[in-house]
Amino acid sequence: MREMTATTTSLPLADRAAGLVGSVIDSSTSLLQRQTHDIVRFAMGSPAPEAIPTSILSEIGARELGHASSDAYDYAATEGDPRLREALLKTLTGISDETTDDRLFITAGGMQGLDLIGKIFIDPGDLVITESPTYTNGSATALSYGAELLEVPVDVDGMQVDLAEELVAATGRTPKAIYTIPTFQNPSGTTLSLSRRRRLLELADRWGAVVIDDDPYGMLRFDGTDLPTMHELAEGHPLVVSVRTFSKIVAPGLRVGWVSADPALHPLLINAKQAMDTCTNVPAQRLVAAFLAEGHLDEHLRTQRAEYRRRKLAMQSALQEHLGDIATWTDPEGGFFLWVTLHNGVDTQQLFEIALAEGVAYIPGPAFSPDGNFHDALRLCFASTAPDRTREGIARLRAAIDRLAG
Ligand SMILES: Cc1ncc(COP(=O)(O)O)c(C=O)c1O
Repeated sequence: MREMTATTTSLPLADRAAGLVGSVIDSSTSLLQRQTHDIVRFAMGSPAPEAIPTSILSEIGARELGHASSDAYDYAATEGDPRLREALLKTLTGISDETTDDRLFITAGGMQGLDLIGKIFIDPGDLVITESPTYTNGSATALSYGAELLEVPVDVDGMQVDLAEELVAATGRTPKAIYTIPTFQNPSGTTLSLSRRRRLLELADRWGAVVIDDDPYGMLRFDGTDLPTMHELAEGHPLVVSVRTFSKIVAPGLRVGWVSADPALHPLLINAKQAMDTCTNVPAQRLVAAFLAEGHLDEHLRTQRAEYRRRKLAMQSALQEHLGDIATWTDPEGGFFLWVTLHNGVDTQQLFEIALAEGVAYIPGPAFSPDGNFHDALRLCFASTAPDRTREGIARLRAAIDRLAG
């Protein structure tokens, strides 16, 4: 066959291809892999390599996956491997994310949960509320189904829900969905207050809008007291769909997560997932199932929370030392991220290349806004870097800022 070359513009692409916006956040993984010089990596939202329970997972793998009669290499039920479903239901019993067998649906990570919900609920032209800044991989799933996004600013108490009501009124439209990351938000680290959680649920009920409750960091609280999750506050309201993942609490490469949704949605979730990937990777589900069933999660989380607290404090003290005169930053009580705002006019997108050359990587603010706002801000992940390296990385960041500022 004659070799064909074509630019994408000459191909008969679907209209929806224009809505596939890609991810600056994810692209930084390959960008960083191509670098050969020493870089302090504050960019990705990953647990530290040493925070992944590799020896326990390897031991489980050898035991559960290493024999010929294992059915772990076969297809599994679309709604999830029974062993994982059972272990997860037990793990969640008595906590704010407790759910039931008829609501539980296993997914290939949190992203697939968000995509399935978008596929089921969002039509082209639908209005979807997002936080501003937000996790744009999440808002990208809504865009890929043709949503129009309405950004609602976040302050120290999370999304400004009263403002959401005003901004919606100004559009003269009714939103179809509200995308929220209520706890230790990515990227700002802020947490939606209890009163705003309640108010958001009231508004959603009034609008008939789906609440996409994306809460991957809630189990990583290291200070303060837990708030009830949106999932708990919703008390089974059919408009609230909760997306969870093992990526931040066990390991992101496993690609295992779950959704808790109204039982009536399950046939749709099954149909949508069968047209996507049939079932979630079975060996990975078995690793997580045994990790939970053998009771490792509690101890693992206890250790991680203490370490993340230490790392956050180290990053904040390094910021105080090196950027105290030109920047402010958030003070999260859990999760992975600090949101830093520069007050000296430096554009964090322009700064990125220089910072990379100086040996430090972060994600520029505009990557967290569908409209490209926040040129004065940047996201730092404190979770994946040990305190000594963090101090070095923040010193490099200051050197880069000074170079750009002249
Ligand atoms: C808010 C939020 N939602 C969803 C995800 C995606 O999770 P997963 O890696 O399990 O797909 C992330 C990961 O960074 C996240 O921060």
